Amino acid sequence: MKYTFPKDFFWGAATSATQSEGRELNDQKGENIWDYSSVKYNHRFYEGVTTEHTSNFYKEYKQDIQRMENLSFNSFRTSISWSRLIPDGVGEINQEAVKFYRQMLQEMKQKGIQPFINLYHFDMPMALQEQGGFENREVIEAYRRYAECCFELFDDLVACWFTFNEPMIPAEAGYLHDRHYPYVVDFKRAATVLHHIILAHCEAVNVYKKNYKGKIGIIMDIIPVYPRSQNPADLKAAEMADLFYTRSLNEAILKGKYPSELRNVLERYNQMPEVTPEDLDLIEQTKIDLLGVNYYRPRRVKAKEYLVDVTGIFSPEWFFDDYVMPGRRMNTSRGIEIYPEAMYDIAKKIQNDYGNIDWFVSENGIGIQGEEAFIKEGMVQDEYRIAFVKEHLQWLHKAMEEGSNCLGYHMWTFVDCWSWINAYKNRYGFYRMDLKTGEKTVKKSGLWFKTVIENKGFD
Ligand code: BG6
Repeated sequence: MKYTFPKDFFWGAATSATQSEGRELNDQKGENIWDYSSVKYNHRFYEGVTTEHTSNFYKEYKQDIQRMENLSFNSFRTSISWSRLIPDGVGEINQEAVKFYRQMLQEMKQKGIQPFINLYHFDMPMALQEQGGFENREVIEAYRRYAECCFELFDDLVACWFTFNEPMIPAEAGYLHDRHYPYVVDFKRAATVLHHIILAHCEAVNVYKKNYKGKIGIIMDIIPVYPRSQNPADLKAAEMADLFYTRSLNEAILKGKYPSELRNVLERYNQMPEVTPEDLDLIEQTKIDLLGVNYYRPRRVKAKEYLVDVTGIFSPEWFFDDYVMPGRRMNTSRGIEIYPEAMYDIAKKIQNDYGNIDWFVSENGIGIQGEEAFIKEGMVQDEYRIAFVKEHLQWLHKAMEEGSNCLGYHMWTFVDCWSWINAYKNRYGFYRMDLKTGEKTVKKSGLWFKTVIENKGFD
């Protein structure tokens, strides 16, 4: 069977500023929470490797964009680093940063590669984090101003903007699960952060729509939740996991309303953040043009086995346990399930529940530890990555044939890049980066993806 995708389908890959550019504080870049925690909490990073050691996009953007062209990409997503552009988050604009981003965007334009530009990928400027980051309502205004600066400075070169990547993560990883700085564990504070991020998103979307003509959206996870069984206790567990980790955010963004069940639970447990009627109006009035969906793995849950909580700290995990389905296919490197069918389920959910909005796969990929073992004749022979992409595209194709408005597919990622906490543990790129020499060499999957782009699909 031939899987053919539309002529103007977006093909490419994604990364983020912090993960690819390199720290380069010499060019007046301000510190962000990653630069700070890299030094102060170095033990929390895999092998102590931090933001200093990235794939060097700041210096090598020309060669990297040439590499994208070599693979026939027609689009590419990265983010602007807030603390590079405005070192303290609110003050003077760093002209070196303006120069860098304009040159980078011009280079992409020249090569016919459409930039998808995201404004915030987990990287709060440290000066603002010291004032509470997104926990502080005033930071919403700082973000709005930052977004406005980006639009003013770069809109002539960018037609697709995104406000946030995975907005749930800064709240959940930074304020509930002790993974990202500031390593707080407090549900109500996490909920406050999430609410303020949603408001910041709304402010940026509205500023953009008032003054500019391109498209603006957001990049989120829509992780499908599957219950262990149809037994009512398992169904309830799935409902709660979905409510906390998916609906809480996605319905605010895509339906303009928080789910009423969420308020009921949060009030019952005294965890409701401050939400004003004006906030709710703003959320209701804000509409995006384009949705990016990151998908790596499904969530499987079951009813709780033990109802005893030893910490006393409220958590969504009070209502469900993760479930390891026997026989499920695993990416053993990352310890997560491979379930390509979910791509279809996500597309159907967008079609049925979220108004069949225009969307694209903004991240999908397979992180592998110890990829060196697959090098033969100087090339990573990553057949597993080809199989992974193929299967996900097949399910996506099926949904598109049934009317899903999916406009593109971006892989995570282009060149193996540094990742939050895991540093270079899991390699995701179409290009391998040698950590010692910095040399970048294409993997077998990169060459295969090029044929897919050129043939608009595969057999
Ligand atoms: C995504 C993030 O969810 O996961 C990326 O948007 C991240 O920024 C990617 O790098 C992979 O994460 P990890 O921890 O497996 O390297």
